[in-house]
Amino acid sequence: MLEELIAEMEERRKRVLLGGGEKRIEKQHQQGKLTARERIEYLLDEGSFVELGTFVEPIETPLMQGIEAPGEGVVTGYGTINGRKVFVFSQDFTVLGGSLGKMHGRKIAQIMDLAVKVGAPIVGLNDSAGARIQEGVDSLSGYGEVFYRNAVYSGVVPQISAILGPCAGGAVYSPAMTDFILMSRGTSYMFITGPEVIKSVTREEVTFEELGGADVHAQISGVAHLEADGDEAVLDLVKELLSYLPQNNREKPPIQPSTDPADRKTPELLELVSPDPRRPYNMHQVIRTLVDEGEFLEIHAGWAKNILVGFARLGGMPVGIVANNPRFMAGALDIHAADKAARFIRTLDAFNVPILTLVDVTGFLPGVAQEHGGIIRHGAKMLYAYAEATVPKITLIVRKAYGGAYLAMNSKDMGADVVLAWPTAAVAVMGAEGAANIIYKREIQQAKDPEAVRRKKIEEYRRAFDHPYVAAARGYVDDVISPEVTREQLIRHLETLWDKEESRPWKKHGNIPL
Ligand code: HXC
Repeated sequence: MLEELIAEMEERRKRVLLGGGEKRIEKQHQQGKLTARERIEYLLDEGSFVELGTFVEPIETPLMQGIEAPGEGVVTGYGTINGRKVFVFSQDFTVLGGSLGKMHGRKIAQIMDLAVKVGAPIVGLNDSAGARIQEGVDSLSGYGEVFYRNAVYSGVVPQISAILGPCAGGAVYSPAMTDFILMSRGTSYMFITGPEVIKSVTREEVTFEELGGADVHAQISGVAHLEADGDEAVLDLVKELLSYLPQNNREKPPIQPSTDPADRKTPELLELVSPDPRRPYNMHQVIRTLVDEGEFLEIHAGWAKNILVGFARLGGMPVGIVANNPRFMAGALDIHAADKAARFIRTLDAFNVPILTLVDVTGFLPGVAQEHGGIIRHGAKMLYAYAEATVPKITLIVRKAYGGAYLAMNSKDMGADVVLAWPTAAVAVMGAEGAANIIYKREIQQAKDPEAVRRKKIEEYRRAFDHPYVAAARGYVDDVISPEVTREQLIRHLETLWDKEESRPWKKHGNIPL
């Protein structure tokens, strides 16, 4: 008798494990995609997956009569990644196109609740045709359950979304409320309204890929933080990303033993960054020279390239790096750069990751488009995010630190714990040429040889301000250090600041300019 019951259970489980069946699995493979279960298997440590909600079925609606949906089109449960607990859901496109019905949403919501109770990250593997049309409003309610939790659990446990297939309509808003979105190139897309609707409304003709493919979101819209070729490469990035993050907002990020000596000198930086502000250099190279084993996981690498953000380690301690990139737009801050940096800073602060800021910036980008686009509102996000952050904050001024951008790049007054500068640094309201042209305008105009006077005044201003020593004399810069000893200095400061505590006046929540 018991054997029969067990046999029935196994039979039912087999049906669930097969999802939408061999044919649809084959189609999934032909499209270059793994199945929902193969993805989980690849993502988690071998044999660590424990499934929950295996036998959940769709609710009954008149249009769902006789329709089977094994597993409700989503596989949910938990396991480990490099030995660390993680909760995961993986939408099964072979079952009704991975469409989200009420119980599909409920399954996801249940593992989200558990993840927060346990204090472990949530990874969502998205591959879905959107709201299950046959369920009507119930499917929308399923989304509501997930969206609500995305918001409420934001900043409690890390939430990561891998987009590995379609993600359309309002469905995009669940990933959009998570901490990171990763997309697979060529096989995933995200949009609010698809090509057909767009054609009928605006007459624009566009393909799925052109509208919302990985390149679009990683390079134009900034919706995606990371992109890679194929499911496996995306899942590898998920694992890498998690290695920099704590399990929840009450923990610190995990320190990994490093073979890279903490006292390693970096003489190559002496060659790399010239004191001549017109000589470009590669900020990526500066970062890779400073950090452990040269490893830098850049976030938003293809978007707003005038600022660089990403994760690295110093002496084994994870840090989030925010750096101007003078190779693009002279590193000036614009709307996208401010959004990119502010978002990253808040993510770091939410999950206790210290912030290292590398400064080489002439200012905010001038222009009508920027002003009309709301650079005031967007730039304010950066100032707000830095000031709000209570994690250890170290700033290194590499070359220029001018005007409002000096403040926006985490100056002492904006809450930096330690500010270092290289001898190549220049801390001023603006560049010497602009400054001299303004404050000596009349003198220059009235001179017999205006050009000679202009040059002289520029030189005077340069001597007065184009160096780090006035800022250091006032305590805005804690020390001027040689590029050669920067790595060891950063590590020492970071070790000291690691257990730093800083509190803020009570509030319900701040009102960041959005
Ligand atoms: C139920 C669906 C479905 C849906 C597809 N299917 N979409 N079932 N609800 N929304 C089923 C198909 O009938 C098919 O079943 C299987 O999934 C695979 O679909 P195909 O069309 O054969 O796959 P493909 O050719 O790869 O095309 C994928 C697709 C297309 C581009 C995603 O299916 C599509 O356009 N679907 C509709 C998308 C959509 O409009 N969704 C609603 C968005 S609005 P069989 O049995 O043949 O395998 C929305 C609102 C959310 O999501 C609001 C949240 C607040």
